[in-house]
Amino acid sequence: MATSEEIENVIQTTDMVDLVSPFVKLVKSGKNYKGLCPFHDEKTPSFTVSQEKHLAHCFSCGKGGNPIQFLMDIKQISFVEALHELAEKNGVAISGAYKKSGPDYSKYYEMMDVASKFFQQNLNMTKSGKEAKAYLAQRGISEEMIHTFEIGLAPAGYDLLYKVLKESNYLELDMLDLGLISKNDKGYYDLFTRRITFPIKDEQGHTIGFSARIFDNKDPNQPKYVNTKDTFLYHKGNVLYHLDLAKSEILKKKRVILHEGQMDVIAATQAGFKETICTMGTALTLDQAYILKKYTNHAIICYDGDKAGIKASKKAIQIFKQAGMQVHLVLLPNGMDPDEFVLKNGKEAYLTFFDHHILDEVEYLFETSFLNQNLEDYVTVETIKKDIFQLLIKLPSQTIKNRYLEKLANKLNTKLSLLEMDYNSYCTTIPKTKPVEESFEDDFYNFPSLNETTKIKKEKKNYELRLFLYARNSRQRALDIDKKICECMDVFEPIHQDIWSALVDIYYNKYETFDDSLFCSILTEQQKEVYLENLERLRGAIEVYNDEDLALIIEKMRAEHMKLVNKGIDDVILKTDDYQLKLKKIEEKFENKKKYMPNRRKQ
Ligand code: UTP
Ligand code: MN
Repeated sequence: MATSEEIENVIQTTDMVDLVSPFVKLVKSGKNYKGLCPFHDEKTPSFTVSQEKHLAHCFSCGKGGNPIQFLMDIKQISFVEALHELAEKNGVAISGAYKKSGPDYSKYYEMMDVASKFFQQNLNMTKSGKEAKAYLAQRGISEEMIHTFEIGLAPAGYDLLYKVLKESNYLELDMLDLGLISKNDKGYYDLFTRRITFPIKDEQGHTIGFSARIFDNKDPNQPKYVNTKDTFLYHKGNVLYHLDLAKSEILKKKRVILHEGQMDVIAATQAGFKETICTMGTALTLDQAYILKKYTNHAIICYDGDKAGIKASKKAIQIFKQAGMQVHLVLLPNGMDPDEFVLKNGKEAYLTFFDHHILDEVEYLFETSFLNQNLEDYVTVETIKKDIFQLLIKLPSQTIKNRYLEKLANKLNTKLSLLEMDYNSYCTTIPKTKPVEESFEDDFYNFPSLNETTKIKKEKKNYELRLFLYARNSRQRALDIDKKICECMDVFEPIHQDIWSALVDIYYNKYETFDDSLFCSILTEQQKEVYLENLERLRGAIEVYNDEDLALIIEKMRAEHMKLVNKGIDDVILKTDDYQLKLKKIEEKFENKKKYMPNRRKQ
């Protein structure tokens, strides 16, 4: 443990201006320095730094504090981590052993750093670097962005990186494991050559992989990008490009923008949206959504406006919704991606367009239905109409439905009254087997014997009954299931909790085999009524159960239980002004996810 003297020593030896500068552009103002607060959105600088007092303070939002506090807040790290980071930097000794939790990867981070620096030097100091830089300039990437994103150039040689690492006495085995080199009969060779490199970092900012783009068209058979294959550090399913730098901005702006590729992230950052991230050439995973949810509940998807981008957007909408996040979308004109838009129209145009075209899910799906369609072809028109009717039928508001019908009539150049007739007749013939929504939950709840939409909606939450019906016939099974779900009983309505408890705590305590009338005899009148009524309703459905269904139900219950627990945590997060408490609670939510939904991590 550090002594209070040591802590004070760390504070006193820190140059506050040096510490804050990478995050805030500071300007001298009298004795102090001033800049735009990194913790909230503002146009005039309220963030004040006193070099003399080793303090930072925002006169608008109140955030700031001593160097340790500042580092904790800006990097989202713990007190101990911040203390040790500063102590190391300032050469102050701290008593007691300090061990970061988890395995020690520092050697590997160091190796990745050596590689990244080597690539960066190569871009900035060599002749071939000039060529690569010309390409970057032509793509509108500024020097500042090259620096921020640590863009580099993998040289054209065969094993130059290998030699550099070897000279520093790193082991071949580690280089192979990190995905930096490979081996054939001739020996070791570099995996990244003659490409512009983008280091990919983890949430804490350690380089864990690279994405590398061709910039000269010497070999047309080469893929545009080569990315690190999965390694023990780099898992493409949970890495989010630029999150390390974006996270404080995401907290500040209370939103995250999901782009399709790193060029878009760089272009958007350069234009002024720092709260942007992307996945590495893969579809968004639930893991990634949960990582983002630690920072914000609100995602804006801005993928390419082309066919593939729209398809991927629709998938990402579902993933975000599954993670319980709010989703909006921005659809760029003419199938463009953000990077093309900025290059063609400029930063200002991009910022304005973006902020004025944030669509909700229905608006987005509505708009995209017409893209690249031949509205002269009546079969196409009927398909579009059906798709949109399907969308509208889910809307709770009649007014909004009418608005869309009007818009649709306009787009299709047809009479509103005719369209309304079509819509009404569509409503009476909606496919009876279609679930209300096509999310994971609804698919799961879509019970074969209940195929009427309204009924499905009503039955949605009834898994307690199905579970009950499955469990009741065997004492062993009932007790086994009870063990698995007792923790999550709060997802049942109270009356069902009582019926369940009557089965496992009372009935099977006394009897070995199940008998309906005997069971009814231990229920109260009200419980009996609910039990019998539901029994009647779900008759015939029992046989569909097997252990797989059971596992799914339990998984669902745990997820729902987690939602309830997290709701309590959300209430705390919303109410408190204590930043540390907020972070702690956010972390708790994440831990809950690991606890209650462990399987989701294996995807
Ligand atoms: P895009 O093809 O949309 O690339 O792929 P882009 O971002 O517009 O790239 P530029 O503007 O041509 O440079 C989107 C993302 O898919 C991954 C990359 O991560 C890229 O950023 N990708 C693409 C690959 O992994 N490999 C490829 O060959 C192509
Ligand atoms: Mn692009």
